[in-house]
Amino acid sequence: MAEIRLTDIRRGLGHTNRKDAWWARPLLIFICLTIFLIYVTWAAFQGNHYTFGPYLSPLYSPELFGDSTHSWFGAKPGWWPGQLHWSPALLVLWAPGIFRLTCYYYRGAYYKSFWADPPACTVTEPRKKYLGENSFPLIIQNIHRYFLYLALFFLLFLSYDVWKALWFMPPGATDTDERSFGIGIGTLVLAINVVLLGGYTLGCHSLRHLVGGFMDRLSGAPIRGRAYQCVSCLNRRHMLWAWMSLFWVMFSDIYIRLCSMGVWNDFRIL
Ligand code: FES
Repeated sequence: MAEIRLTDIRRGLGHTNRKDAWWARPLLIFICLTIFLIYVTWAAFQGNHYTFGPYLSPLYSPELFGDSTHSWFGAKPGWWPGQLHWSPALLVLWAPGIFRLTCYYYRGAYYKSFWADPPACTVTEPRKKYLGENSFPLIIQNIHRYFLYLALFFLLFLSYDVWKALWFMPPGATDTDERSFGIGIGTLVLAINVVLLGGYTLGCHSLRHLVGGFMDRLSGAPIRGRAYQCVSCLNRRHMLWAWMSLFWVMFSDIYIRLCSMGVWNDFRIL
């Protein structure tokens, strides 16, 4: 590993003795996260094409208020300010959004990619003073543990969406009681989404601490010990789960959106 020297620090951002392409990884992360943020923001504000048959886009789940059959409490609420653009996703997407934004892995990734602090190991950064996460504003990142609780609820909602994605209305039917069991490609897309989000959420560092990481000895608590092992197992690949679930949640919305627009056909397996 190349050493960072005082002269490099004086030269400012980007100076290093490293000969490898140290900039490739932060650049790739910057591109991927930017594409994701632009797409998800665009999709969340559309307010249409977020359902197809029994499928509901995970970006809009749970649909608390809305016009589709997935809505819990009926149409757009009267208290929604008239000046504000309406989309059902705006009521819910902030919770998984903040959970991901404050994730320990993503923090490390976007600190490097978006504000080069530092850009990579042994590469000089643009600031001389490091305040870290012990002071405002980054101390707010500690809310991650609270958003973990919300994220666990979202996993339940998304699992319920998979169950609903197994029940299709026959052509021409108007009564939701006429639904019959089936499996479409969309069902699989939503099921994979839950598996990947489960792998990501259940491998969370905060959850690892919660289930047993805070204890000195786990040998006297076998159930806790087993839970700690399971979370630790997922936690070892947290970065991989983070990227796979990020990609798949975006793809799930694209799949349902394009089916709803008539661009793609949803094939029924059963
Ligand atoms: Fe990544 Fe909690 S640390 S989800």
